[in-house]
Amino acid sequence: MRTAESAGTGAGGLHDAAARLLRSNWTEGHGPIGPPYGYTRPDPVKFPDQFLWDSCLCAVAWSRIDPARARRELRTLLAAQRPDGHIGHTIFWRGPVRFSRAFGYNLLDRRDHSTATIQPPLIAWAWAEVADRSPDDPGFRREGLPALRRYHAWLERERADADGLLGILQPDESGLDATPAYDAPLGWRAHPYPGFLALLRFNRRRGFSYRHVVADGGFHAIDPLVNTAWALAWEGMARLGEPGAAGRAAEVIDAMVLRLWHEEDGIFHPIGPEGRLRVSTWAGLAPLILAGLPPRITARLVDEHVLREGRYRLPFPVPSVSAEEASFRPRDTGWPIRRYWRGPSWLFSTRFVLDGLLRDGRVVEARDLAGRTADLVLREGFREYYDPTTGAGMGGRAFSVSAIALDCALRAEGFVTD
Ligand code: GLC
Repeated sequence: MRTAESAGTGAGGLHDAAARLLRSNWTEGHGPIGPPYGYTRPDPVKFPDQFLWDSCLCAVAWSRIDPARARRELRTLLAAQRPDGHIGHTIFWRGPVRFSRAFGYNLLDRRDHSTATIQPPLIAWAWAEVADRSPDDPGFRREGLPALRRYHAWLERERADADGLLGILQPDESGLDATPAYDAPLGWRAHPYPGFLALLRFNRRRGFSYRHVVADGGFHAIDPLVNTAWALAWEGMARLGEPGAAGRAAEVIDAMVLRLWHEEDGIFHPIGPEGRLRVSTWAGLAPLILAGLPPRITARLVDEHVLREGRYRLPFPVPSVSAEEASFRPRDTGWPIRRYWRGPSWLFSTRFVLDGLLRDGRVVEARDLAGRTADLVLREGFREYYDPTTGAGMGGRAFSVSAIALDCALRAEGFVTD
């Protein structure tokens, strides 16, 4: 087991490497679609466009290196807002999607400047994190509120159920494209099988309108990661000074506990079109990031999953699927198109899990997680994802979100116990 001191060395070595990565993945300019932009490409080769949840994590990583860049990243996201309040999963600042790719994207028209779908709505959380590190720009904290209110109003109007939980109409809206959680309801239509194009066509014909898709019997789900992001975004709005936001966060968390929590399995599950999907993926642990999660639930997630050998405690942190699941694969699967999020570790999840450990008083374990994550990045580079059994890096070779390891290390080091 690592000590707090050894975890500390991770942050020192990581700072310069993360700064180099983010600087070289940064892009800015004046595209054909309007206002000037500046954002971090998730990977300059594989993903040159702006992806919503990558951008939020990049902004948090930037806030440890250069808060002005972090603010620019988030301002760029808000600049992509449609007049109705929607902000897309992917934004094409540099011009329309190539013709050959347009069919596989969630677009209504090839010339659209963003996809018509969503990704975990983390913007208000990232905004609050960046505002906390922006003493040089005090106006930033409140500057985004009008646009963030419109964004939240769109999500509520278009996606919320009666209990306030948000629905998704495709698995990629959860950020976890081919997660085994949705294997059963999707079958041959799962991402990225050819049947996925049929699902896409079904949704496109309905204007990617969740209400129409549900009414016509299409795939839909209440996803724990998306709703964690939703509650976290309301906690973020409260930190930005929005009246009533803390109450909204509490309501979303209550509804998640009522509807998605499974007492026997001690984890959150998604609800598909036919009911609960009892598959253990890291999305079920994501609520650990929420300040308002009941401590009893935090403790169960930590004891029975995060720290349980053979489930999520493997030699390298944190697998995207429990190693106990029949679908768990530690390495790449799928050819020629990869099937993502079926076992390998993406570092998005470290940031979510870390806060739960800290809040549960597991400071040593949190520093161990952050330290092992830092070591992995220093050994393998900023890869897109890693084999949780050997640590081998896979996918993209300059993956921006992996710079979140720096924020994790600093957060774990800076955490003060009473
Ligand atoms: C993949 C991931 C998605 C991510 C995107 C860009 O599609 O599944 O979560 O946003 O790559 O990194």
